[in-house]
Amino acid sequence: MDYKITTYSEQETIELAQNIESEKFPNMVICLMGDLGTGKTVFTKGFAQALEVQEEVTSPTFNIIKEYTSGEMPLYHMDVYRLDGKVEDLGIEEYYTKKGITIIEWADMISDYLPEKRLDIRIRSSEEDEDKRIITITPHGSKYEELCEAIL
Ligand SMILES: Nc1ncnc2c1ncn2[C@@H]1O[C@H](COP(=O)(O)OP(=O)(O)O)[C@@H](O)[C@H]1O
Ligand SMILES: [Mg+2]
Repeated sequence: MDYKITTYSEQETIELAQNIESEKFPNMVICLMGDLGTGKTVFTKGFAQALEVQEEVTSPTFNIIKEYTSGEMPLYHMDVYRLDGKVEDLGIEEYYTKKGITIIEWADMISDYLPEKRLDIRIRSSEEDEDKRIITITPHGSKYEELCEAIL
């Protein structure tokens, strides 16, 4: 089952991320999809803040993977936009079982390397309002289904 949520400000997208964070568990994987400027990094920053990550979370576009270890659980933030094909070199799949939380921006670009169990979040902009975002959340696996039932 898909869950549809509309946010009307950056703050509302941050609140969604905070709600999801409140149901976190080790080895959680969140896959963010959506065009440039839809709010994938905004979501990640909101999540990191709720996790009490102390460092500033910045877009990892040029680093591909950034690890933050100052929060309640390790956070692995990836932006695979510029990865083009070098997925195996990075060992992305190892992060899924390191007991932290993995958030992947542009996850649809590495669809063959995503875990079966994960939370997919698709964000779309709207032509009628520049601050409106239509967000579709699809849980894969019972833990993610329960998470969605709990907070959405
Ligand atoms: N409802 C909303 N949710 C998230 N971001 C929004 C929203 N409305 C406006 N914005 C703005 O859209 C931009 C999203 O940027 P960013 O998170 O870096 O996008 P992405 O990582 O998807 O490329 C920010 O400037 C943010 O302030
Ligand atoms: Mg981004």
